[in-house]
Parts: sequence; structure tokens; C-alpha cells
Amino acid sequence: MSLEFNKAAAAVLTAGITFMVSGVVAGLLIHPKPLERPAIETGAAPAATAPSAPAAPTVEPIGPLLANANADNGRAVAQRLCASCHNFAQGGPNGVGPNLYGIIGSPHAHAEGFNYSAAMRGLHDKTWDYEALNAFLARPAAAIPGTRMAFAGISNTGQRADVIAFLRSLSPNPAPLP
Ligand code: HEC
Repeated sequence: MSLEFNKAAAAVLTAGITFMVSGVVAGLLIHPKPLERPAIETGAAPAATAPSAPAAPTVEPIGPLLANANADNGRAVAQRLCASCHNFAQGGPNGVGPNLYGIIGSPHAHAEGFNYSAAMRGLHDKTWDYEALNAFLARPAAAIPGTRMAFAGISNTGQRADVIAFLRSLSPNPAPLP
């Protein structure tokens, strides 16, 4: 065995020991925290938990926006989105949907002689206030499951505020702002 070989073997051994020691030291210095959730979420994981009810849809409150809402723009939006089904004039007729004059402050299913869904009639003891309208106009079918109003909703909160401000104006003495 040559001296060179011994030297080389010693070098390898030293390197190995250094490597081991540094590993131990590193282990002492760094306390790896176990991940609380797996770093990679597999699609299968949620299925293990019991299916929970879908979270109630949250709609941004409209109250704070009404003070600065634009009823004229609301009228234009309503002409575009609602007027095919709703008449807004005082004493105007029902169409595919009920007449909406004076809707704010009125009970749900307010129009005489309109054939409301059972879902809407069932809410007759509830008043159409600003937030009820807000939720209904955001997503009619989610706010009142079973409604016959075949309208997807107005997702833009500012536009909803404008339409509600317009509906508020359909009254001889508009309801106070919230
Ligand atoms: C495709 C027709 C259609 C469109 C478009 C439509 N609606 Fe309706 N709307 C209805 C029908 C039908 C009802 C009655 C719902 C029921 O009985 O469940 C209704 C009911 C309502 C009610 C409740 C009235 C009450 O007496 O309780 C409000 C408020 C309303 N609509 C507002 C609007 C607004 C505002 C728009 C536009 C952004 C709109 N709707 C667009 C058909 C429509």
C-alpha cells in the first residue's frame, strides 16, 4: 500500500466525517418545521372530508355606495336589463315581471294580480329594503331559490347601486338612504 493511497483514503475519510458532522450541526441549528398542510394539494384530499354545504354567497353591502350612486345611470341600465320584463311607471302594467313602481319599502310580491312564484309569495311579510334588493339583484336565483325571475343578476356592485338608486326614485317620497 503506497503512502499516496493512505493519504487519499485519509482525505476521503476526513471529508466523510466533516460531511457527517456538518450535517449533525446543521440539524441542530435548523429545526425543520413539519408542513402543516401538504406542499402539494392533491385533488383527492377534499373528498376525504364530509361534503359541506356551499358557503352562502356573500354580496358586498350596498348601503355605503348609495349616497354616491347615479340614479340616471341606473335608469339607463334598467332600461337595458330589466325593461323587457318590468314596467316602472306609476300605475303601469305588469309584464313578464311585476310593475316595479314604489318597490322599495313594499312587501315582497307587492303587485296586485301578478302570478308570483311560491318562493316570492312566501316572503310576502318581508319588506324590500336596500340590502334585500342588493342580494336579489346580484344573483336572483341564489337570493331567492325558486324565483321565477329568469335573470342572471348584476355582478357589478356600482351598477347595482345605480339601479337601486333608480328604483328608490320611483316614489313620490323616496325612502331615506341607509
Ligand atoms: C326575464 C324577465 C325579467 C328580467 C330581465 C328582470 N326581471 Fe325582475 N322579475 C321577473 C319576474 C318573473 C319576477 C317575479 C319573480 C317571482 O315571482 O319569483 C320578478 C321580480 C322582481 C322583483 C320583485 C318584485 C316584487 O313584487 O316582489 C324585483 C325587485 C325585480 N324583479 C327587479 C328587477 C330588476 C331591477 C331587473 C333588472 C336589473 C329585473 N328585475 C330583471 C322577471 C324579470
